[in-house]
Amino acid sequence: MHPRITLTTLYKMKGKNEKIVAMTAYDYPFARIADEAGIHIILVGDSLGMVVQGESSTLPVTMDEMIYHTRMVSRAAGHALIIGDMPFMSYQAGRQDAITNAGRFLKEAGAAAIKLEGGAAVSQTIKAISDAGIPVQAHIGLTPQSVHQMGGYKVQRDDERLMADALEVEAAGAFSVVLEGIPSDISEKITQALSIPTIGIGAGPHCDGQILVLHDLLGLNPVHIPKFAKKYADLGGKARDGIKNYIDEVQTGGFPSDEHCY
Ligand code: KIV
Repeated sequence: MHPRITLTTLYKMKGKNEKIVAMTAYDYPFARIADEAGIHIILVGDSLGMVVQGESSTLPVTMDEMIYHTRMVSRAAGHALIIGDMPFMSYQAGRQDAITNAGRFLKEAGAAAIKLEGGAAVSQTIKAISDAGIPVQAHIGLTPQSVHQMGGYKVQRDDERLMADALEVEAAGAFSVVLEGIPSDISEKITQALSIPTIGIGAGPHCDGQILVLHDLLGLNPVHIPKFAKKYADLGGKARDGIKNYIDEVQTGGFPSDEHCY
């Protein structure tokens, strides 16, 4: 078993230019596989709304659903840092709400940190949560909870605004920041300017680490594979073949055979 990843581990990795590797997971079996493989961070992302629940955005995901999934992931992981993702409207309406909801991830679900979306606009919320002793990962650039405000899932190119957001979330106390849907040259400048680790998704190779959504990484997303994602395995194809074999064997009398009978 590898030692548990902490914030200190991540800072040291940034200092040594050692890449941080993160992925999402939403349940016990996949979190266990990811943890055994040596992943550094497991984010229980609100992307579960789209890849697990089949919604067309992350907006319907609730706090209770996030707690349910985060608890399963925490039970599985002995090595990775577990981050719970604050769902839409769990932190936007007020600071008190934000602290209470962030606390639930640590108190009820075994996470070590939380993530929330937004830059300068949420910096006071980041400060309030981290002042309460809860580590906060920020998330700037393409922020899926603002899909309607952004007019779709669009790459964000306003370099001045992105840099200002990054500096502000760092100053507010974020321990790390996800950079999503940002041109590589802008992410490179942000990564150099910050002392906290940047974790990229669709943000090029210069970030301190990378994160992918489990279903994109393992070929479980039949609907849409984004340009920035790479499929490292085709579990969807393998699962379909296995199930087809099962159907075939039951219908042709191959299963159950003697070895499966009492
Ligand atoms: O919800 C999620 O999975 C995320 C990652 C894509 C960073 O926010």
